[in-house]
Amino acid sequence: MKIVLIGAAGTIGKAVARELSSRHQIIPVGRSSGDFHADLRDIPTLHALFEKISQVDAIVCTAGSVHFGPWNELTPEKLDIGLRDKLLGQVNLVLAGQRSLSDGGSFTLTSGILSENPIRYGAAASLVNGALESFVRAAAIELSRGQRINIVNPTVIQESMPAFGPYFRGYRPVPAADVALAYSKSVEGSQTGQVYKVW
Ligand SMILES: NC(=O)c1ccc[n+]([C@@H]2O[C@H](COP(=O)([O-])OP(=O)(O)OC[C@H]3O[C@@H](n4cnc5c(N)ncnc54)[C@H](OP(=O)(O)O)[C@@H]3O)[C@@H](O)[C@H]2O)c1
Repeated sequence: MKIVLIGAAGTIGKAVARELSSRHQIIPVGRSSGDFHADLRDIPTLHALFEKISQVDAIVCTAGSVHFGPWNELTPEKLDIGLRDKLLGQVNLVLAGQRSLSDGGSFTLTSGILSENPIRYGAAASLVNGALESFVRAAAIELSRGQRINIVNPTVIQESMPAFGPYFRGYRPVPAADVALAYSKSVEGSQTGQVYKVW
């Protein structure tokens, strides 16, 4: 399969590329990293990406930022970061990519454990992750040509614990390589509309 991987240079993206690259052609994409450049926040760059790479069999996204910070300091502007980047960025990726995705091809997006299991400072992330999972369930029943869509919901990643550990006390981290298996299940399996929790 020819697989576009947005966020291939990241902690999860590198593990997904490692898992899939022995069996498939990976096209790594980032804002500045990767073989092709696109920004989830910038719809024309997404259209330009699909014009350049033409037809693909899977579109995987392991990118997207959200604001973390104290509730008392939350503002519409800070909320907007995650809404525009991780949430609408991935939604717009699906809208922009569906014509370039082959019959029976798949989208795999990324949410996170905070959709169901909130932490202090994580309200913006919980909002975005929950909305993404709802979007995936809805899109799955309307996508055409046998196209599929799933979302991977990881807990905190082992490799990210030096940065995120203090916010995730009591959460059991998982290695990025284990999370990568859920992307493999989505891309190489047959299910659609699924939220794959790796907790
Ligand atoms: N790490 C964790 O513990 C964890 C746990 C649960 C969920 N998640 C979610 O998993 C996703 C990936 O996390 P990560 O820790 O692997 O991130 P990361 O290490 O920061 O990597 C993010 C990657 O995405 C690219 N990227 C970032 N923003 C982009 C944008 N707007 N458009 C296109 N590419 C963009 C970056 O490359 P460029 O700089 O070249 O753009 C980078 O390769 C995020 O949505 C995160 O919320 C992470």
